[in-house]
Amino acid sequence: MLRLETIAEARRWRRAQSGRVGFVATMGALHDGHLALLRRSRAETDTSLVSIFLNPLQFGPGEDLDRYPRDLDADLRLLEEAGADAVFLPTRDVMYPPGFDTAVLVEGPLTQRLEAAHRPTHFRGVTTVVTKLLQVAQADRSYFGMKDAQQLLVLTKLVRDLAIPTTVVPVPTVRAADGLALSSRNIHLDPVQRRASTAISRALDAAEARFDAGERRGDCLRDAAGAVLAAEPLIDVQYVSCAALDTLEELDRVGETALVSIAAMVGVTHLIDNHWLGLPAGLGAPHADLGILPPALRSDL
Ligand code: PAJ
Repeated sequence: MLRLETIAEARRWRRAQSGRVGFVATMGALHDGHLALLRRSRAETDTSLVSIFLNPLQFGPGEDLDRYPRDLDADLRLLEEAGADAVFLPTRDVMYPPGFDTAVLVEGPLTQRLEAAHRPTHFRGVTTVVTKLLQVAQADRSYFGMKDAQQLLVLTKLVRDLAIPTTVVPVPTVRAADGLALSSRNIHLDPVQRRASTAISRALDAAEARFDAGERRGDCLRDAAGAVLAAEPLIDVQYVSCAALDTLEELDRVGETALVSIAAMVGVTHLIDNHWLGLPAGLGAPHADLGILPPALRSDL
């Protein structure tokens, strides 16, 4: 596995690739969710590039940048074992050298609600860094997790609006056996908090069960999730949402698709999770037909 540290090195590597290149952006502290993106890339492309960059721009004041877990040696071992071909490890100075003055902003409703309401500068940081990473990677396919649903919708829109020449591939959420979505931040949960946190995925299961039973009223789906969360005192709920994929506006009635999502603090740890309702089955499989995705998840329209 090649280590690329500068933009010039990464570009040189990229130019030397003849087949299809897949790209996975991460902030490190890697777990099986990140590796699922890499596995999908390996199955669908000829060469896979992973970036590790803990992007300060997407953390607001008072958020957990200082506390964010880091373990580069373990990360490199995992990527090597999982078969990454190259890893891009830019420093802060490589990404944001002195005099860096540019920001990339997706405007409109997607960056106003949910996470954005609690973290007003977050998506500006994400879209700026991902634009730069995509410029360097020049990947045929770029893999992003459905766990970070709003991020995925924002990045899909970014790629579409700016005609960035890559296909965004959504990858289903990887969970622990007890249902908790894998996240680099889970490491901060003590055993009691860890157990309490499973209420988040149970709440999403409850909402999805109601949807599968035919319930289409947004309030009822939100309430089904909210009732499970309310029974868990260690969970401090920020939002329970049942929203449209294209605007993230709360729905009175669900049509074909919806995103049910939850954000909560458990102690000082920020957790988010979601279920996508009404998406076609089989999306997680390599070479799945992305043409059947709803427009909000298609970067090629
Ligand atoms: P990070 O949290 O490290 O996540 C990197 C990628 O892994 C994202 O696409 C995320 O959605 C995906 N991912 C995380 N946990 C997952 C899980 N349990 N199952 C499936 N996929 C999962 O998201 C970021 O970093 C940053 O915002 C980034 C896009 C790298 C920009 O800095």
